[in-house]
Amino acid sequence: MTIQFKSETFRDDFTFSNSPEAIRRFPFPFDKDEYMYAVNIEQHMPGPIKSPYEFPIDIDEHYVAEMRDRALVLKEDPLRCQSLPHMLTAEWDLVELLMESMAKNYPEHFELTREGDAWHWINRPLGIDQKFTFGDTSTLPYPPMEYITRQCQGDFCLCDQRNDDLWMDAGIVTTQADWSLDFDVGMSFKEWHGPVPLAHDIGVFDRALKFLLNLQQGRPVRRLNWTMTINPRLDTSPENYHKWGIDRTTVTPENVGNKVHLRVELQALWRLPRSNAIVFSIRAYLIKMEELVTIPKWGRRFHRVLRDLRPELADYKGLTRFRQMTVDYLAKHDDGAPTSPGF
Ligand code: HEM
Repeated sequence: MTIQFKSETFRDDFTFSNSPEAIRRFPFPFDKDEYMYAVNIEQHMPGPIKSPYEFPIDIDEHYVAEMRDRALVLKEDPLRCQSLPHMLTAEWDLVELLMESMAKNYPEHFELTREGDAWHWINRPLGIDQKFTFGDTSTLPYPPMEYITRQCQGDFCLCDQRNDDLWMDAGIVTTQADWSLDFDVGMSFKEWHGPVPLAHDIGVFDRALKFLLNLQQGRPVRRLNWTMTINPRLDTSPENYHKWGIDRTTVTPENVGNKVHLRVELQALWRLPRSNAIVFSIRAYLIKMEELVTIPKWGRRFHRVLRDLRPELADYKGLTRFRQMTVDYLAKHDDGAPTSPGF
């Protein structure tokens, strides 16, 4: 499958947009007209052709531009990529997972040759041709996790498993919805989920942790999460809040369709073979309201979800300032017709 990679930006002049095909394959996350936290975990099975679930690791038209944006973030702030010393084996596990998946499913763009520990990796879109020894960090230009995740869309957390808990002991996080790896590194599952409202009380994190502690190798799982972003900005980190927080005050009835974006995270989890760690990938997809309403059932449903969202969730997700304006915009695209469950 040959992908036409777009030249676009996620900052300053914000030239990002979705092609009609990218809109059609957008992972719209709502299977009902209302939303509440749940343990919405399912097997990460191959999905329909051309959908973001077709392959375990999804590469799309935004790949090259996203990798450029990640390089800019890391240049300004190297602490977006951190790994505690005992996570090196998990880092190599991640190299294997990502290279194998990308080369198998996008052979026009990526190629991997393995002869024992002598590996040869070719990444055509980014112009990379690298021979290295698997397991020997000195043969790569960056540590293994950083090396491969500078070449793969989405953020990644590597979680060590010990004492019946998961610990966020490594990660690369440059496209996050207002949380910080530098703050969370070394924390346990419930510690890093501390700020999330309501979900602790209804047992979501107890059940999710129990499930993940038993995650089996070769049986990855996935879930969707969502929030909203003003402008197609990938780096909405606490570290850079001074750059993007103010954007929330710039939404007007005239620009809401263009400025307000639904941001969906396709999150997948794999048990890693050598380290027994879990990798958690967070792949963000952005779509502006004008694009979203081109699919009538999405405009209709998202209007209802946003209108009826619990205030605690709207506050936590940072939507409160522009929520009503967005609901008013979407109301024009909701004819009141009943919707069917699922999509
Ligand atoms: C939010 C990480 C697995 C449910 C978050 C946050 C982080 C995170 C860093 C942001 C917290 C903040 O505001 O500072 C992870 C990692 C996971 C994981 C590394 C894998 C080991 C899960 C699972 C569930 C889940 C399996 C299933 C229920 C949530 C929910 C939120 C959240 C509901 C709030 C999201 C929102 O409203 O936008 N997670 N998470 N997480 N996580 Fe997880």
